[in-house]
Amino acid sequence: MKPAPTDPQTVAEAAALLDRGELCAFATETVYGLGADATNSDAVLKIYETKGRPRFNPLISHCADRAMAERFGDFPPLALRLADAFWPGPLTLVVPLKPDAGLSDLVTAGLDTVGLRVPAHPMARDLIAALGRPVAAPSANPSGKLSPTTADHVRTAFVGAVPVLGGGPCQSGLESTIVAVTDDTVTQLRAGALARQDIETVLGYPIAIAAPNAAITAPGMLKSHYAPNAALRLNAATPQRNEAYLAFGSEPKGFSGPMLNLSPSRDLREAARNLFSHLACLDSEGTKAIAVAPIPHDGLGEAINDRLERAAAPRT
Ligand code: TXA
Ligand code: MG
Repeated sequence: MKPAPTDPQTVAEAAALLDRGELCAFATETVYGLGADATNSDAVLKIYETKGRPRFNPLISHCADRAMAERFGDFPPLALRLADAFWPGPLTLVVPLKPDAGLSDLVTAGLDTVGLRVPAHPMARDLIAALGRPVAAPSANPSGKLSPTTADHVRTAFVGAVPVLGGGPCQSGLESTIVAVTDDTVTQLRAGALARQDIETVLGYPIAIAAPNAAITAPGMLKSHYAPNAALRLNAATPQRNEAYLAFGSEPKGFSGPMLNLSPSRDLREAARNLFSHLACLDSEGTKAIAVAPIPHDGLGEAINDRLERAAAPRT
């Protein structure tokens, strides 16, 4: 059995945990976050495993300052204005991703946009600065449970299985407000700790509001959402002619079309790590259809299957 982790006593100890690919919970001004190095896919997978999240939702990447955020996102002028006005603070900006900057595609869930935020809690910023890379962090609670606003909430929720860098009770207790910014539009994706009116005051006009949970319940409707151009055929034990094949475990004999294997050894963590990049790679070969091997539904398989089903859903 793995020994229970001891809580880091300093920012440097917490940064060392993250640097080694371990999780560490930390305080922000909104809620406690369950943090992982956003450039390390294996570390990010631990977030999903620990939270028991049944699907790959995009995660917010927390940055030490605006300069770090601009290394990973392309900021339209409107986003720069909002960052100037509200960072550090409880505002997450969803902007186009810089694809070669090194963020794990499990953080963006394969989208071509990225959610970035500079938290107001000084300890959180110190932690991220010490790591030198963005920290991906959803709220530090098991999926479906209340968001934690004290270090003890986190310890109780995960029965001590997650190290926590204590930073006092959270000021707001409400998650950040999320807005998506393009060259000419600002759309609120999630109401949160920053009032929409405050954003509108800075911009001087009302902003659009996305349907509740639009980004989560109907990702295929989101223009920026990554869905392959090719049609997907799921639970396909063998590919047909003219299909590319996304294998899992053993590979079909005598198949000469394009093929990638999510995990030859049927390791679901490896499959999760490869999911978005393999799909994108097969898709880029211009194939009309991709057949996908059956994936077991246990563990991370649930999130993998959820993502595949959404990618295979009819497009509008
Ligand atoms: O206050 C907060 O925002 C807290 C603290 C820890 O910072 N974090 C948080 O994370 O609430 P989480 O994982 O519960 O919410 C992240 C949400 C996702 O569900 C998704 O809706 C949105 O952020 N999001 C992130 N990146 C996105 C993207 N590229 N496009 C659309 N939505 C995105
Ligand atoms: Mg949450």
